[in-house]
Amino acid sequence: MAYDIKDINLAPQGEKKIKWVQKHMPVLETIKKQFMEEKPFEGITIGSCLHLEPKTINLGLTLQAGGAEVVMTGCNPLSTQDDATAAGAKMGLNMYGWTGETNEEYYEQLNKVLDYEPDIVIDDGADLIFLIHKERPELLEKLRGGCEETTTGIHRLKAMFNDNALKMPVMAVNDSYMKYLFDNRYGTGQSTFDSIMGTTNTVIAGQTVVVCGYGWCGRGIAMRADGLGANVIVTEVDPIRALEAKMDGYRVMTVQNALKEADLVITATGNKDIISGDDFKYVKDGCMLANSGHFNVEVNENDLAAQCVAREQLKPDIEAFTMEDGREIYLLAGGRLVNLAGEHGQGHPAEIMDLSFAMQALSARRLVEEDMEPGVYKTADSTDMEIARLKLQTMNVEIDELSDDQKVYMNSWDVGT
Ligand code: NAI
Repeated sequence: MAYDIKDINLAPQGEKKIKWVQKHMPVLETIKKQFMEEKPFEGITIGSCLHLEPKTINLGLTLQAGGAEVVMTGCNPLSTQDDATAAGAKMGLNMYGWTGETNEEYYEQLNKVLDYEPDIVIDDGADLIFLIHKERPELLEKLRGGCEETTTGIHRLKAMFNDNALKMPVMAVNDSYMKYLFDNRYGTGQSTFDSIMGTTNTVIAGQTVVVCGYGWCGRGIAMRADGLGANVIVTEVDPIRALEAKMDGYRVMTVQNALKEADLVITATGNKDIISGDDFKYVKDGCMLANSGHFNVEVNENDLAAQCVAREQLKPDIEAFTMEDGREIYLLAGGRLVNLAGEHGQGHPAEIMDLSFAMQALSARRLVEEDMEPGVYKTADSTDMEIARLKLQTMNVEIDELSDDQKVYMNSWDVGT
């Protein structure tokens, strides 16, 4: 086991955090026990680039229980928890990364993971996969495939595939029901507000909250904002999703009109320049801007900086930009994904990551067991079902089963006779 982390002496504190999340990740713990018995990853090296915090370390420990040599680095220098990495290293995971790495250090750590010549990579944002294709293509020969955690990573990989540039199979873990229905929606919805409320100590009730993008993350954020008593406005570019937002009871309008009313704006589109250029002219005095999309490109900080006359860091995650007309606009967590990169960003609750990481673990196993051609693959529906059943069991929820007669009926076309 090797590591390059902040401080190995932080391990005892990290171990406690890992113990806590394990208690709340019963599905992954069940899979860990199966892996321990069956050792599906014997002789396999798995490299990962995931937010380095207790829940992901627990995924690393699950893969290790299955016999893998595991090497991990973070996918965002600001989301790394140094005590968790120390604990992971103590528990035998090869661990690279620390909070606040520079961009250069970030890429150094990615390369250190690749130095292990992994058989499987697990990515969150496709940085490892991209780096392999761009700079280290010799690794493709040994690589059995990869798993991708987030929407933005899948977009990148599908674009690579369409350009005939993707040379390995990748499981689109993000696109499984157990991921986006729960992680993107309930996870992002809750953790975005956990972080914003912790950072700002301001009330949400009675505020006008603008949610940009009504995808799986956006609808979770809108749902939680509504539940907290906010007046919610949604902005969209997709007419179907805009219509859904409208029928879910929210106001829907253009971003510039929405900004005139917003007390808090949260972007979650996976796209860039959602608030940029002239948009800042419409932002009200005192408005807070936050982002929950994968990259820090949704609020164009350069455009904001170019239009302000002064900027001041009020708290570690609150920067005030004073505009020429005296308005103050607050950017939270530097426009990075607020629920992970912010000071109060702990990511999604463990019960939610239980589902996403169960999907990751079983998808990695599929890559070992099946020889797959290059491409972006949907995970098997049967895996989604299996994980959902396990989760319901751990929640003591029983459901009905189809009778034989019902099965026949549901598969018949001549139902009237
Ligand atoms: P999605 O594809 O379901 O939804 C994105 C929505 O944004 C779409 O409805 C799209 O029409 C809309 N959109 C695109 N450009 C827009 C624009 N200019 N203005 C308004 N709306 C626009 O994606 P999903 O799953 O909701 O993910 C969104 C982002 O959040 C991605 O970057 C993803 O990687 C990231 N993500 C972040 C998480 C977190 O913990 N913060 C968790 C999961 C995903």
